[in-house]
Amino acid sequence: MKALVTGATSGIGMSIAKKLSDRGWALILTGRNEDVLKNLQKQLGGDVEIIAADLAKREEVFKVYGFCKGKDVDMLVNNAGFGLFGKFDETDLDDELNMINVNITALHILTKLFLRDFKKKNRGRILNVASAAGFMSGPLMSSYYASKNYVVKLTPAIYEELRREKSGVAVTMLCPGPVDTNFNNRAGVVFSMKPISPDYAAECAVQKALSGKLFAIPGLTVKLGILGSKFVPDKLLAAVTYNIQHGKLKAKESQK
Ligand SMILES: NC(=O)c1ccc[n+]([C@@H]2O[C@H](COP(=O)([O-])OP(=O)(O)OC[C@H]3O[C@@H](n4cnc5c(N)ncnc54)[C@H](OP(=O)(O)O)[C@@H]3O)[C@@H](O)[C@H]2O)c1
Repeated sequence: MKALVTGATSGIGMSIAKKLSDRGWALILTGRNEDVLKNLQKQLGGDVEIIAADLAKREEVFKVYGFCKGKDVDMLVNNAGFGLFGKFDETDLDDELNMINVNITALHILTKLFLRDFKKKNRGRILNVASAAGFMSGPLMSSYYASKNYVVKLTPAIYEELRREKSGVAVTMLCPGPVDTNFNNRAGVVFSMKPISPDYAAECAVQKALSGKLFAIPGLTVKLGILGSKFVPDKLLAAVTYNIQHGKLKAKESQK
């Protein structure tokens, strides 16, 4: 069995790669940092191929797909992604469009292309890394939350299409709350609540994806939070999220 893992150079993606490798999977790993990819390839041993690519660039998304073509990939892990912090009118437009390219466009393209291949052989798994953020609006991280809302709306729709066809292919979405990775450094904030480990998130994701479940939500608090969010009006939820995000800023300032 072989998996393509995007964003394998760090955090959740690296942990997912390790979990799959431990289960005997062959891997194709991608990320922008080629040195880290090479180290990981050495560390994991076995059948591991690497391809460096910037998924903010559409042609590089197709380059990754082309690299995988004919290699009988059984699982796509759409994990690459990042967040940006700040008021909507203040965040840099180019950074934001790059984020949308990685979090939405690359995931969309790879999901479509691999789904077509998987359906031809009636076998395969797609694991989309969404977020608990995908179930709400996120003032001060508005575009990031919106990008994860896209994944949270797209994935169940595909899941249902496949279920109706009694397909051997399944899609899963990982929806974690805070995870202790490089994510916050890149977004320029610190967590205001205790994060789970990337290993814990990855184990949940891999187990649920292999068993063809739609949801992979690690941890009871986040499960309850997502469930609870269904009963709260969007406007109130946005006010609560503002306070959480603002808390991150305050936590960062108090670290200085
Ligand atoms: N950490 C959290 O609290 C949390 C919570 C919920 C969901 N998530 C989601 O989990 C996923 C993984 O994030 P993480 O927490 O593991 O963060 P991370 O440690 O920063 O890892 C992000 C990964 O995405 C890759 N990536 C970023 N920009 C890229 C680009 N332009 N092209 C190709 N690859 C790119 C990075 O690789 P390179 O730098 O080598 O390109 C890296 O491997 C993301 O989709 C994130 O939204 C994270």
